Amino acid sequence: MTVIVSATVPADLLARIEAAHPVIHVPPGTAPQDVVPADRRRSVRGMLCTLRTRVDAPLLEAFPALEVVSNYAVGFDNVQVETVSERGVLVCNTPGVLDAAVADLTFAFVICLARNVVPMHEFVRSGAWTRSAAPLAADLAGKTIGLLGMGRIGRMVARRARAFDMDVCYHNRNRDEASEQGGLARYVGRDQLFAESDFVSVHVPLSDATRGGIGAREFELMKKSAFFINTARGAVVDEPALIAALQAGRIAGAGLDVMVQEPLDAASALCSLPNVLLQPHAGSATVETRRAMIQMAADNLLLALGGQTPRAMVNPAVWAARAQAAR
Ligand code: GLV
Ligand code: GLV
Repeated sequence: MTVIVSATVPADLLARIEAAHPVIHVPPGTAPQDVVPADRRRSVRGMLCTLRTRVDAPLLEAFPALEVVSNYAVGFDNVQVETVSERGVLVCNTPGVLDAAVADLTFAFVICLARNVVPMHEFVRSGAWTRSAAPLAADLAGKTIGLLGMGRIGRMVARRARAFDMDVCYHNRNRDEASEQGGLARYVGRDQLFAESDFVSVHVPLSDATRGGIGAREFELMKKSAFFINTARGAVVDEPALIAALQAGRIAGAGLDVMVQEPLDAASALCSLPNVLLQPHAGSATVETRRAMIQMAADNLLLALGGQTPRAMVNPAVWAARAQAAR
């Protein structure tokens, strides 16, 4: 049996994988079926990959013995979960270990947007400060942040917002009673969230249900003074509608870690709008967090191939069915 590794893996973890199984390296972002020679495809039982690998029917057809896909990410919108599950392929991801890092970056956007950090920096550097006073910024205390999506990451953002004495509301498919009772956040309807919030921050996964779901109608509901923050997935937003709202001054600004097309082309209107703050999909991009994620992804791959329950599964029913069949 062999495994495909299509990710940058630290030497010690790669050595652990190689000690267990022969490894075929595939450059991240390249379709494995395009580079793995036909005579080796049937031996592939596992794959460790990033969001840049499309795990779909053509990949499954090329690797008929594939048992486990270990995604080096919490999100799995690169995987056609239904198709993969039908074929009995287990999918693993890395939830939990990146929540604080993503919440930190979300909060960096909140603070930078409210306090005009980047324009103020330019104000000093350009010498404008010697000629005039900078325009005043805004407080966080007493402002409302609306969290669309209240999973692990949403809750981490709520904790940070509470520490800054902000009012926190959320909307989610399922109510989060514990957060409500603990005073972390109050539940509101979806439209109310857009209408009431001074900051709207998105923490939903990308799926058929969420794709393009935030558009002109939602930006129309928002206050003109409000900011929009997205550290989830670009495609949950109708990006042309967001650009139009920003250009028209319909909302005050945006902080975006994710875009529909990544890497973002510098010719995109998002790159020239003065009220947009951009990051290169860097929510989890810290040394400590990426280490924890790749460790979890490597563990998931090796555990599953060794017949032991992985640390996190996207489609645990596949695992349960396999255990049943083995009995
Ligand atoms: C990052 O976007 C992830 O899903 O881990
Ligand atoms: C969402 O917020 C998650 O943690 O998956």
